Amino acid sequence: MARKYRDFISLEPFSLEELMEILELAAGQKADPGTYKYIRALTGKVVGLLFEKPSMRTRLSFEVAVSQLGGQTIFMGPDSGVLSGREAIKDVAKVCARYLDAMVLRTKRHETILEMARYAEKPVINGLSEDSHPCQALGDLLTIREKVGRLTGVKVAYIGDANNVCKSLAHGLSKCGSRLAVASPEKYGLPESFLKTLGTNHGISQVLDPKEAVESADVIYTDVWTSMGQESEAEERKRIFQPYQVNLELLERAPKAIVMHCLPAHRGEEIADQVVDSPRSVVYDQAENRLHVQRALLSILLG
Ligand code: CP
Ligand code: NVA
Repeated sequence: MARKYRDFISLEPFSLEELMEILELAAGQKADPGTYKYIRALTGKVVGLLFEKPSMRTRLSFEVAVSQLGGQTIFMGPDSGVLSGREAIKDVAKVCARYLDAMVLRTKRHETILEMARYAEKPVINGLSEDSHPCQALGDLLTIREKVGRLTGVKVAYIGDANNVCKSLAHGLSKCGSRLAVASPEKYGLPESFLKTLGTNHGISQVLDPKEAVESADVIYTDVWTSMGQESEAEERKRIFQPYQVNLELLERAPKAIVMHCLPAHRGEEIADQVVDSPRSVVYDQAENRLHVQRALLSILLG
């Protein structure tokens, strides 16, 4: 496949066709590991993981993906201080690009990822910022395609904080011609400025009542009420978001819906224990799919 793009920072600039190419490759590699094992598209390549925030899934799935493709990773975590003001990001970007073949960044400020991409002459991948989590959205789309059986005309109800995960999911679903019904407390929904970036016919609706959002949903999706970096608001958020828990009572209103969560989950807060563990939950398949989509993405960007 010809590479039409260098970085992966947001789903926004990608055409539906480009997203589908990534998902097709991911599905193909998942079904037949021989397709990547013997190609080893990253042989001799080194991918840096520069993380300012904690991670389990993103770090592990990228490290495993790079290794399955024959490459190596170097992890620089929050303690390294590499992105935290020791020197100008411009200098970090230019130096890292001399050593590394690509970089996966997890940052406190989205602007750091944009600046790295501006100055690093190597691919930059967004492994989560406060603004977005596009690798998660790729995994989510693959999961929806597998579990619901299609990516068009799907109704996803997102319950809770319209955060980074919700925004990337919104980009993905709106490109696929699916609907996203967001139920959040006032002031915690998707801002008007974000909706404007999606153009007309984006398929996104916003309500206050979770019961209304889940009506006839194919998927119920939730994420933590307090994201990394918002810890000082945790108590206030716990109180405000209480009516937004995804529990068995809410699930009864959408009998066909599967349940998704990007994880880590705060069991007993945004999602009830019994829901995470219920047969309708697909959270572990969803986590697995991070590996498949990221391996496909790396194969395209670096292969
Ligand atoms: N979903 C996700 O990105 O998980 P981690 O924070 O563990 O990487
Ligand atoms: N919204 C969460 C997602 C973690 C994967 C956060 O940013 O902390």
